[in-house]
Amino acid sequence: MIRVYNKTSCMVKPADQTWSGKLALSELDQTGVTVHVPTMYFYRQSPEDWFDVLQTLKSSLSSTLVHFYPLAGRLSSVSGGRLELDCNAAGVQFVEAYADKKLTDLDTFLPSPIYHQLTPSIDYVSAPLEEIPLLVLQVTRFVCGGLSLGLSISHVVADGQSALHFVSEWARISRGESLESPPYLDRKVLRAGDPPRANSRLEHTEFDPPPILIDHSENESEHEKETDVTMLNLTATQVEKLRNKANNSWKSEMSHGFTRYEAITAHIWRTACKVRNHKPEQPTALAICIDVRGKMSPPLPRKYFGNAIINVIATGRSGEIVSKPLGYSSSKIRDAIEKVDDEHVNSVIDFLKGQEDLSKFRDLQPSSNDGHFYGNPNLGVISWLTLPLYGADFGWGKEIHMGPGTHDSDGDSLILHGKDGDGSLVVALCLQVRHMEDFQKVFYQDIDIE
Ligand code: COA
Repeated sequence: MIRVYNKTSCMVKPADQTWSGKLALSELDQTGVTVHVPTMYFYRQSPEDWFDVLQTLKSSLSSTLVHFYPLAGRLSSVSGGRLELDCNAAGVQFVEAYADKKLTDLDTFLPSPIYHQLTPSIDYVSAPLEEIPLLVLQVTRFVCGGLSLGLSISHVVADGQSALHFVSEWARISRGESLESPPYLDRKVLRAGDPPRANSRLEHTEFDPPPILIDHSENESEHEKETDVTMLNLTATQVEKLRNKANNSWKSEMSHGFTRYEAITAHIWRTACKVRNHKPEQPTALAICIDVRGKMSPPLPRKYFGNAIINVIATGRSGEIVSKPLGYSSSKIRDAIEKVDDEHVNSVIDFLKGQEDLSKFRDLQPSSNDGHFYGNPNLGVISWLTLPLYGADFGWGKEIHMGPGTHDSDGDSLILHGKDGDGSLVVALCLQVRHMEDFQKVFYQDIDIE
């Protein structure tokens, strides 16, 4: 058992004066996942002088916040269930702590209950929204001199690309280098604060409640079931086997063969439908998160800081997903992704702008049953394949492990690169405990079944 003790906390504010005022958020910022998203970094060694480490981290963070000042602000509620961002330089929470063991005493670097001690918790229930920092982090020193950095960033302020852009700039500045590329902060490019242009031109069933289990009248009982998290490794060979399996089993006109994301996500979907023992006619939905920076016309600035992501949904019936070959479910995923273009994104924005109450489209409290449930019989698979996850060197070398923090929502999964750069991939999966063992078995068995 590891004990984490002597936690002290302070607010780190931008080093210089920054723009102050209310920043309108786009509809994409205020919907979907709006809680803080945790990530963990572990470093084998830090310099002897711990005080110096903390000072370096704090002062470089303070300098980085001058460029990324929205992270130092606070959210507030406005009419229509909407949120705005008060850029008031209130600061980010910096916690320092000590662990009474060595890094090697951790059973695993993978998500485990110890993570809760290594990342500050966020009180969404009793703390007023206006007081919750948008970035909270904890630096913990282990007795061997190793350290962990647990970081949680509000998804209202930054999507994955933006959050990792911030971390890599902070690391650069901590190493004594200068900012590489400033964030693009003007959310007007996604029409933040503007009135609707028109009614949405397309139908947006992705905002409808997802299917529930046949014979059930609600999904709360599924939502409350105990979950577990696992990391499933796929070697480069296994990845290519799955991609070939999808391509060889699907003959239709496509501009290019299935991508790794499409083939692996289809495999996860199929496996989940199998082990959840659905009836063949069970409707199932798969949520796919798409980065729209390159889909807009003109494309958004590459370093757009905010949320430039939307969800699309692939649907099917469990029986067909399981009985038809992998190419079938892969093609459903391809179809859902392909419909996203500038017109689609603007139509989503118009749809959301037209809503009287936007709050019903977000999940602000992780433990509540608000928002849509993409657990049994559904699934959400997010790609981290194009995110610059690795190599955050703050001046004492690259991390020995970086990965998602704990998550406890059934069906929530991520695909990321293995860290050795050997073409292997990792699926970080959260599933109900009762399905986990079967999932792991079938997931690997089916790779080899033609
Ligand atoms: N660097 C290296 N390779 C890239 C790349 C980049 N910046 N961008 C795309 N590619 C590669 C992909 O790896 C893929 O190659 P593969 O077939 O060997 O796997 C190919 O180009 C096509 O990529 P893409 O067009 O992204 O399709 P996809 O099927 O891999 O992924 C989406 C589909 C919708 C998941 C993806 O387009 C997307 O939006 N990803 C971002 C999701 C995101 O923002 N996640 C964080 C949420 S907070």
